[in-house]
Parts: sequence; C-alpha cells; structure tokens
Amino acid sequence: MMELGSLKASDVGLGAWQAGGRAWTVDRAELLKAYRRAFELGINFVDTAEIYGWGESERLVGEAIRGYDVIVATKVAGFHWGSVEKSARASLARLGRIDLLQLHWPPPVYAPLCRVVRDLERLKEAGLVSEIGVSNFDARLLRRAAECLKRHEIVSDQVEYNPFNRSADADEFRKALGELGVKIIAWSPLAKGAALGKWGPDRARRMDPSFKKASTEAGRRVVEAVRSVAQRRGASPAAVVLAWLKHRGALPIPGVKNAAQAEDAAGALRLQLPEEDLRLLDEATAPFIAGGVGMGGIRYVPGFLQELALRLSPL
Ligand SMILES: NC(=O)c1ccc[n+]([C@@H]2O[C@H](COP(=O)([O-])OP(=O)(O)OC[C@H]3O[C@@H](n4cnc5c(N)ncnc54)[C@H](OP(=O)(O)O)[C@@H]3O)[C@@H](O)[C@H]2O)c1
Repeated sequence: MMELGSLKASDVGLGAWQAGGRAWTVDRAELLKAYRRAFELGINFVDTAEIYGWGESERLVGEAIRGYDVIVATKVAGFHWGSVEKSARASLARLGRIDLLQLHWPPPVYAPLCRVVRDLERLKEAGLVSEIGVSNFDARLLRRAAECLKRHEIVSDQVEYNPFNRSADADEFRKALGELGVKIIAWSPLAKGAALGKWGPDRARRMDPSFKKASTEAGRRVVEAVRSVAQRRGASPAAVVLAWLKHRGALPIPGVKNAAQAEDAAGALRLQLPEEDLRLLDEATAPFIAGGVGMGGIRYVPGFLQELALRLSPL
C-alpha cells in the first residue's frame, strides 16, 4: 500500500497512455478487459492525462472504472490563465472523478510556477480533486513548488523511473522527496518493454532512448539479470521489474495492453524479491543512475508548443 496523502494506492498501478491510441498499437476492447482484470486482482490506481489521445484515454478510463473502487489520477498540461481549472473540469467530465490531479510538466517559463501550483491548490480546496501532484519536476522545481503552496501539500512527483533510467535515485532528488514527503510515481516502469528485452515498432517507442541503452553491453546485462531473477522465482520478467521498483519505494504504473499483462502487473503486488535478487538488479542497473530527473528543457520551447497544441485541440 502506498499512501499519497489521503489516498491509499496499491503498490502497483496502471498507466493509460496506451488508451490514447494514436502512438501505440492497441485494441480498445482488450484494454478495457485488461484494466478490469487488474482491478479484480487488487490494483486500485490508474493514471491517465488529458493529452493522451486528446481525451480518448480519459474517456476509456472513465468507462473502465465504472463499478470499481479505484483511485483515478490524471494530468493537466496547459498553463495559460485559467487553463488548469478548465482542463480539470473537462477531465472530470470524461472520468467521472479525479482523486489525484498532477501537472504533466513544469510550466513553461512565461507561466509563473507559483501561480500554476496555486491553481491546483484551489481545485483541492474547492473539492474538485482529492490530492495534488506534479510530474517531471526535478529537486529544485519540487522545492520551489512546495514553497508556493499555502495550505496543502504536493503528494507525488511522477517521473521516468525504470532499469534504464534511475535518475530518480540521485541523492539530491531523494533528499528533496524525503524532506517534502513526496512519493515517486514511476512512469515507463518497464522502459516501454526495453527492460524485458522487447522492441516495439510503434511511434511511442521508435525514438525512445531506452532501446538504444538496451543494445549496449550494460543494457544487455540488465535484461539478463531481469530474466534470470524471473526464471529463479517463477515470475514474469515484467513482475520482477515492477516488484524491484516497488521495493525502491516507487509506485510503478505499467502501460498494460491486455489481460495477460494486467495479470503480470498484479503478480508484482505479491512478489517479494529476496535480498540477493534485489542486489543483482541494483548492481546491473547502477550505470543508469546518472542523467538528472525531469524535463528541465520543457520549460522553454516545448512549453510553447504544448500550449499551442492544447489551444488548437478538439478537447
Ligand atoms: N508523466 C509523463 O510524462 C509520462 C510519460 C510517459 C508515460 N507516462 C505514464 O506511464 C505509463 C507507463 O509508461 P509506458 O506505457 O510509456 O511504458 P511501460 O509501462 O514501461 O511499457 C509499456 C509497454 O510494455 C509492454 N508491456 C506491458 N506489460 C507487459 C508485460 N507484462 N509483459 C511484457 N510486456 C509488457 C507493452 O507493450 P507491447 O505489448 O506492445 O510490447 C506496453 O505497451 C503510461 O501509460 C503513462 O500513464 C507518463
């Protein structure tokens, strides 16, 4: 169980970028079945975002959760005046509820961080959302965002965290998390499949650096370590990676695409890896600690593009 403020999330959740469709090869009916299978097996946390398929993912998640008691997290990405509230209300209409509302990225330089973070705080005060969080914030931005808030706290920072990107293990970042009481939600926990030795031809994966890392000598050692632990424990390689992240204090949100993958994710809830396996995985993945958390650069050019896209989108 992971406590995110007042929310009690299962140790493994789901990520629903795939449900946005376009960048991934997916089948809507299979996804619905997968999410419901995961909920039946004890996963009670699902993450989506307004930009995943311009609302498509939120609509599918809204449908999948009907009849289940699950925590719904989503992310807003537009930061012009009033847009956080406007986005949140639109997401709420698609989802039916928002338990955790996160800023998808640090706001662009021309949108003052404090103003945007306080917009989030106001939504919590108005009872529109239960908890607030951020995503892709490094230690410095996280501290600044926390200073902006008057009454409430940021409960989580959603960052890339997987065997090929362990920047969330940098001392400075962990220190900030510890001092502020912020939990890590791990995105792309399976490195989009690269940590399992897989490859996918879709747009979401073609450019992902994880696959390049997987083809290096150090990368091959990671995949080998994951496979050998999986074999020893009679578990799936995906469950091994998720259980390892769980042990490292993060809430992984794998993007499952079918019921079998949902079962693997749920398998990680119960999988406790012994010390020797954890050590093997820690050592194999150690070369991937360097790099820096978050997307500092997004505060510049992409911030402008992301806002333009949101203004022009049919959301
Ligand atoms: N905050 C952000 O900026 C941000 C950025 C990226 C992602 N995210 C969130 O993180 C979630 C997860 O990230 P992700 O989807 O990019 O990557 P991921 O979870 O690391 O990998 C997902 C891919 O791995 C494969 N997979 C999943 N379960 C598997 C299993 N049990 N066995 C074998 N293969 C399996 C599937 O692809 P195939 O079956 O096709 O191989 C799936 O598409 C997203 O859905 C999203 O919610 C957030």
